[in-house]
Amino acid sequence: MSKLAPDILAERYGSHVSFPDSVLEHQSSAIETILAHRSVRSYDTKPLEPGILELLVAAAESASTSSNLHCYSIIAVQDTKRKQELSIICGSQQHIIDAPLFLLFCADLARLKSICDRQVGPAAGLDYTEMFVMAVVDAALAAQNLAIAAESLGLGMCYIGGARNHPAKIAEFFDLPSRVFGVFGMTIGYPLTHAEEVKPRMPQTGGILHFEKYDPDYGPALAEYEETMKEFNDTMPGREGRGWLAQTAQRVGTPESLGAERPSIKQFLTEAELDLL
Ligand SMILES: Cc1cc2nc3c(=O)[nH]c(=O)nc-3n(C[C@H](O)[C@H](O)[C@H](O)COP(=O)(O)O)c2cc1C
Repeated sequence: MSKLAPDILAERYGSHVSFPDSVLEHQSSAIETILAHRSVRSYDTKPLEPGILELLVAAAESASTSSNLHCYSIIAVQDTKRKQELSIICGSQQHIIDAPLFLLFCADLARLKSICDRQVGPAAGLDYTEMFVMAVVDAALAAQNLAIAAESLGLGMCYIGGARNHPAKIAEFFDLPSRVFGVFGMTIGYPLTHAEEVKPRMPQTGGILHFEKYDPDYGPALAEYEETMKEFNDTMPGREGRGWLAQTAQRVGTPESLGAERPSIKQFLTEAELDLL
């Protein structure tokens, strides 16, 4: 069996992190696709080839879904004028216009409610936060499966959290019924260049991966990641000298730094009958 190229892990984690040789023994094309992920924000405007959308959605639907409930929906936007309007709602992101396909991933409890209304009458279980969590998780799992499938075909993609900038406008734009929430969008298309870099991730040890119990001693891993991100940003024109810690703290520092109307998502959820028990 062929081995995983060491460069792939080195790119993903930067030069400070090393892995035992045994890690390289386990190679697969799926893992290579996943480890090579980078968000793409510049697209050729050419449409996707016929059949791609359906294949990608089959990949999305192949993700696990809590209790097989399918608590999510995907809305595809391909119309240029609608993508232009959508781009403005999502924070004027040009790649939403350029990419041939925009997908909105929704947490969807409306379909389940309509089934229950017909089958058993009002279903009190749907009024609990547990169901909202389930629906958001379902939407995210489907989206990530779709993302990997797209990347495996040589397409580029980028999540669009900007779809939560103005939740009520998104609900109106997509005619979302009560109990449906646009969790995030995704642009998909043929990358214009392959210039996007693989962005290093936080070290596993002391950072992301804990053994047996949660270990809050993040210090060394965070210091290591700060160095890695400084080295990474030094290669990016305009980003020289920046690390990760200060920027990250700023990103969550104030309600305003969450962006647009995101601090009032709770109010939207109340109006959408998703402010649950
Ligand atoms: C839920 C979610 C929302 C995101 N929203 C946006 C967005 O609105 N615009 C954007 O350019 N990138 C967005 N991103 C991309 C992240 O910035 C990106 O994944 C992160 O910086 C890591 O870079 P990489 O994906 O190239 O590895 C989003 C990512 C996620 C997971």
